[in-house]
Amino acid sequence: MGFATDCIHAGQEPDPTTGAIITPIFQTSTYVQEGIGKHKGYEYARTQNPTRRALEKNLTALEGGTDACCYASGMAATQAVLTLVKAGERVVVSDNVYGGTHRLFTKVLARYGVEFAFVDASDAAELDRRAGDFALLWIETPTNPLMKICDIAALAAVARRRRALLVVDNTFMSPFFQRPLALGADVVVHSTTKFLNGHSDSIGGVAIVKERAHAEWLQYVQNAGGAILSPFDSWLVLRGTKTLALRMPRHEENGRRVAHFLREDPRVRKVYWPGFPDHPGHEVHRRQASGFGSMISFDLGDRDGADRLLRAVRLCSLAESLGGIETLISHPATMTHAGYTQAERDALGIGDGLVRISVGCEDAEDLISDLGSALKAV
Ligand SMILES: Cc1ncc(COP(=O)(O)O)c(C=O)c1O
Repeated sequence: MGFATDCIHAGQEPDPTTGAIITPIFQTSTYVQEGIGKHKGYEYARTQNPTRRALEKNLTALEGGTDACCYASGMAATQAVLTLVKAGERVVVSDNVYGGTHRLFTKVLARYGVEFAFVDASDAAELDRRAGDFALLWIETPTNPLMKICDIAALAAVARRRRALLVVDNTFMSPFFQRPLALGADVVVHSTTKFLNGHSDSIGGVAIVKERAHAEWLQYVQNAGGAILSPFDSWLVLRGTKTLALRMPRHEENGRRVAHFLREDPRVRKVYWPGFPDHPGHEVHRRQASGFGSMISFDLGDRDGADRLLRAVRLCSLAESLGGIETLISHPATMTHAGYTQAERDALGIGDGLVRISVGCEDAEDLISDLGSALKAV
């Protein structure tokens, strides 16, 4: 089936008891059993829930995986995936990943004997030469917030040579634009909070895998740790994915127009958007994704400039998060990337003047007019 058809139908059949076309919210904690060991495949709702399962099947189809597990947040999905490595093993991570990912790895999981090394993953050959041995390679592409591009197929080959896993956080692109499993990745992670749900009204995460053994382990962890996506949130994300193929082209078209508008304004020092032909890695991105998305960062020089713009916008909302139909604008240094130290941010180039915008589905003229007025305050 085509992608849009899968968005609407994959994993979802009419409810067998009523014919309801929409998967019901199975808001139950347990299931009545007929006798010892005699049940309908559902015993306890931490372990199995039909609404969550429908979403897992839907997302498996969209990413072209074997199976998926949905968790209570993107970070819960990340934490679950990291249980694929053991104490004493090394994890290599692309630099300038989401600040929460950096925090989980360096402040929490590093306490359990896993070593994390953050490297520039935009040059796969260089990473291969310098990274040493590792059990898992974790990347974002484009990276958050500087939109560095990592070559998924080349990094999959680097990981394979070490018998290591390649995990791609595909939150920024969504499977509409980029499908890392087809390029050689072993696991794809999403914060479903973002484009997959698309309406800024749910927190959730998913890990989609290729290998059956990884699916079995992640299901085991999902039940053992219990950080499950609730039935209601699963239902919301299912409703969100139905329109993914409609929303993403609109996000991208608006993103393209906003990126070009920002680039022409003399008060904006630099615009980071993978769609510009001179953006580093543009050709790699074109090869591995079918669009550039609507995540843009831009530099206003210093914190005061950023603050003035962020106070002056009216239609764009100053808020953490991304991927909703409404445009959100944020300040990475104090919001999404506050978990990095100042020195780490300086080394990466996440300056105090950097602003990140997740361009929504409003009328592009209205967004451009809002940003144009706000830039006058900078
Ligand atoms: C790229 C990326 N990955 C993961 C996460 C974490 O997701 P959540 O907030 O659903 O836990 C975020 C959150 O902003 C993100 O931007």
